[in-house]
Amino acid sequence: MGEVDQAFIQSIEHRPNLDTIEIEGIPLIDLSLSHTTDINVLVSKIGTACKNWGFFQVINHGVPLELLEKIKVAAKAFFDQTMEEKRKVKRDEVNPMGYYESEHTKNVRDWKEVFDFLIKDPSFLPASPELEDDEMRTLSNQWPENPPQFREVCQEYAREVEKLGYKLLELISLSLGLPSNRFNGYFEDQLSRMRLNHYPPCPWPELALGVGRHKDAGALTIVAQDDVGGLQVKRKSDGVWAPVKPTSNALVINVGDIVQVWSNETYESVEHRVVVNSERERFSIPIFIFPSHYVMVKPLEELVNEGNPPKYKPYNFGKFNMARNRSNYKKLEVQNIQISDFKII
Ligand code: OGA
Ligand code: NI
Repeated sequence: MGEVDQAFIQSIEHRPNLDTIEIEGIPLIDLSLSHTTDINVLVSKIGTACKNWGFFQVINHGVPLELLEKIKVAAKAFFDQTMEEKRKVKRDEVNPMGYYESEHTKNVRDWKEVFDFLIKDPSFLPASPELEDDEMRTLSNQWPENPPQFREVCQEYAREVEKLGYKLLELISLSLGLPSNRFNGYFEDQLSRMRLNHYPPCPWPELALGVGRHKDAGALTIVAQDDVGGLQVKRKSDGVWAPVKPTSNALVINVGDIVQVWSNETYESVEHRVVVNSERERFSIPIFIFPSHYVMVKPLEELVNEGNPPKYKPYNFGKFNMARNRSNYKKLEVQNIQISDFKII
């Protein structure tokens, strides 16, 4: 099966355990509100899931099921094309939207290929991560000509999932004892993006990862996955890597770093990774809900007081995002920027 490519090899402590383990836990929440379910019950379930796991799955989420099917078909059709075709929309350091097959997480190459696009096209954001540089730049999507309908399906899916994202943010806000619309103002010029992930079968699944361990930098992530499995979450209670069991018609939700900061750590963004296998390719489709570039992310005033002082210094989301993106292209010698860099000790 050829020689092992060193670029993909995880250090020993981060290599996956491929024994299939069954773990109970990650909550499955039904979002439908019938006259018998009180909204408060739902809010409390969401709050408990955010607190105990940082991850949960939802059903009856309002995203049409035929659209969920269509986006998975579109993802496969896109990645099934030749490399030559996919490279026509290859992203680079100038335009980070499009196709890419060499992303690094924590400076190790991921066993995957991706296609990224912005939900709001074009989007404006800082030209560099340097704080003193106030130059701005425009980011726009690159759409492939093939497969036909790819763009329409992606955009339609993104619109539906975005609605769900805002609904979930409202529920999260309520669960923190805040008004449902507390977060709305942060997303007027949102930098949210959607990604199609393809994890091909890997000849050395015990050495590499589809995506290395990481936390998501946004407010919220909403992931559609197929039935192959591979996403694992670092369980808060004991640090065990727990699989997120593929559940038909469900979407996986996780809180990102921004909710951790806003909530002053009432909710924490949890580490996760993707394990690959030697037999079946896997597709997943995350949407990362990101605020506007000018949002200064900091613990919400209503949630801090003398007894619970802010745990983070404010940071500019656009600058943070730029600094983070830079590390995706190169194997850097230094660790990339983390919210812990803004932690008040
Ligand atoms: C990600 C991610 C999970 C998955 O892309 O940030 O965590 O199941 N993906 O592909
Ligand atoms: Ni992630």
